[in-house]
Amino acid sequence: MSQPLTASRSAPISGRIRVPGDKSISHRALILGALATGRTRITGLLEADDVMATARAVHALGAEVTESGGVFEVLGQGVGGLRAPQAPLDFGNSGTSSRLMLGVVAGHDMRAEFTGDASLCRRPMGRVLGPLTTMGLQVEGDSETLPLVVRGTADLVPIVYDLPVPSAQVKSSILLAGLHAPGRTTVIEPLATRDHTERMLVFFGAELKIEDQQGGARAVTVCGDAELEGADLTVPGDPSSAAFIVAAALICPGSEVVIENMLMNPTRTGFFETLREMGADIEVLDLREEGGEPVGDLRVKASALKGVHVPPERAPSMIDEYPVLAAVAAFAEGETRMEGLAELKVKESDRLAATAAGLKACGVVARIDGDDLIVHGTGTVKGGGSVETHMDHRIAMAFLTLGLGADEPVTVDDVSMIATSFPGFAALMTKLGAALA
Ligand code: S3P
Repeated sequence: MSQPLTASRSAPISGRIRVPGDKSISHRALILGALATGRTRITGLLEADDVMATARAVHALGAEVTESGGVFEVLGQGVGGLRAPQAPLDFGNSGTSSRLMLGVVAGHDMRAEFTGDASLCRRPMGRVLGPLTTMGLQVEGDSETLPLVVRGTADLVPIVYDLPVPSAQVKSSILLAGLHAPGRTTVIEPLATRDHTERMLVFFGAELKIEDQQGGARAVTVCGDAELEGADLTVPGDPSSAAFIVAAALICPGSEVVIENMLMNPTRTGFFETLREMGADIEVLDLREEGGEPVGDLRVKASALKGVHVPPERAPSMIDEYPVLAAVAAFAEGETRMEGLAELKVKESDRLAATAAGLKACGVVARIDGDDLIVHGTGTVKGGGSVETHMDHRIAMAFLTLGLGADEPVTVDDVSMIATSFPGFAALMTKLGAALA
């Protein structure tokens, strides 16, 4: 049963809040905890469906995960120490869980079935299966989408791999497999993607080398047969969730919000950089480092915005934020051109098409030009539309945000998927002053 929700023009968005833990870091904390020796205690883990899929998977592979008073504990089995699952591993909607866990299973002598929901079963897995099979993973049949049956090996071979697309999931999957291979495994990325796997590997005691190359490329090398030691860590707030609150505050006149304890890793902050170029009043307070990641408090005030050109090199640092940036761009004066968005087509839905269609439904002039999205902002948005989310959490949240500043209410067809990344989204937004009903 789908659950529609309507957003209407809102009073100022104001308050001092925290957003739930970072999704990318939460997945990695559970996985590295499972591969470490001893206990890993995680505070602030994102308790969303996607992350729980990872928790269930590592648990099914023998690394017990327990929760008490909001703290999650993983009983690590050591690199190479996991055991075969008794049942298919169901990753629900989560691309990150499934791709990272393929890298983990690759390094174990075990057979495992990977499956997921309808959206995940359409998403490309060839991008991880290619390098992982070169390392020694076997795939039964010739499918490159879930459901898949794979067989790992305790004799993986290390590789040097040039990523054809900038993808942190692919990079991380290979590095996780590389932990199990003797010698050095290197991934070369054409543009720097989120580096949480690298930072956390160092935090858990792995040997890692990062070399910056020409044109923004980066080579990451992990030493195999690694020993990781269980650690205590705290997950900072997710900037990809905060993005909706920041956007709402910018477009609702009179707003002022402080988001505390948010991840400020530069591989994740392209959205805030872009908003500043558009004229947004955003300030970072008390920038500090916690658990190997930069963390800060973000203060945002409603601002008059102008259109901007977003270059393709910025895409990896804000890949999940384009739908909400497009919503904000509709309230800016002038054209916003977002370039190099091919990867948006293979997310939980075709986000490029879904974003353009949603904007049109709300009376915004927008078009797709190849891999680029162009939005013509006029300072105001008519709204009144009914937006198809295609079961995509970020499309749902982006268009609810747009509705908070539009002249007429905006309805999205289903909000149930929001729980995959941002449980409590509607309640938190309402507490800040958003009109959602
Ligand atoms: C993620 C990487 C990105 C991002 C996803 C989370 C990660 O995907 O879109 O939400 O945690 O590594 P790609 O690696 O496909 O770009």
